[in-house]
Amino acid sequence: MSHIDKDNLPRHVGIIMDGNGRWAKKRNLPRSAGHRAGAQTLKTITEFAGNLGIRYLTAYAFSTENWKRPKEEVNALMDLLLKYLRDKDQLAGKDVVIKVIGDRSKLSDEINKEIDNIEEYTKDNPGMVLFLAINYGGRQEIVHSVRKLAENVSKGEISPDSITEDSISSYIYTSEIPDVDLIIRPSGELRLSNFLLWQSAYSEFWFSDINWPDFKTDDFAHAILDYQNRNRRFGGI
Ligand code: FPP
Repeated sequence: MSHIDKDNLPRHVGIIMDGNGRWAKKRNLPRSAGHRAGAQTLKTITEFAGNLGIRYLTAYAFSTENWKRPKEEVNALMDLLLKYLRDKDQLAGKDVVIKVIGDRSKLSDEINKEIDNIEEYTKDNPGMVLFLAINYGGRQEIVHSVRKLAENVSKGEISPDSITEDSISSYIYTSEIPDVDLIIRPSGELRLSNFLLWQSAYSEFWFSDINWPDFKTDDFAHAILDYQNRNRRFGGI
């Protein structure tokens, strides 16, 4: 494999961790075993990405649509999230800053408390930032942002004429960081599934047939190399 150019890394990578259920089914295991294995993969990939020099990683852990799954699976996912949030160094190693994006109002008090704890515990870490998208949906994020913006308009703090793309960007959950440069989706599905809608206007996409629990650091490196061979024009020529 040719070398990754450290001067041309995507600043922000998004991952749709798909294929956990199929991975488990192939092994005659419950779907929850697939999610457990997927969480382990997230840890491995986060460490690898951090060592490579990627600054921001956003992982889609639970979408606003995932509540439609059987209660048993939703509970297993929430238990898994709770376990990883509690065991603070387990998820991503000691260097990583962890932040959660999404609508936290529907998450249990217990999970909300652990989110506050892990964000506080990791906030001064020196490494990359891992954003966990939990009860996240791109449309829900836009609704949340527009509501905040409208509040400021109704207070007279902003005039509708002065609203720009940058001002809307300042209300989204990832306002402090660059838009997502590269979105990785394993497991053979070729869609965005309501992930980072606003931030992905000019993202590159990388798809593969591998189920997320089988996704290896070499696959991540492959995605980065392919990204480095893309010609990003942002609408120019
Ligand atoms: C999609 O695969 C995956 C999810 C809905 C959940 C992803 C969550 C994790 C990997 C666990 C994250 C845990 C932590 C601690 C951050 P699927 O279930 O839709 O797979 P399928 O399409 O093969 O059924």
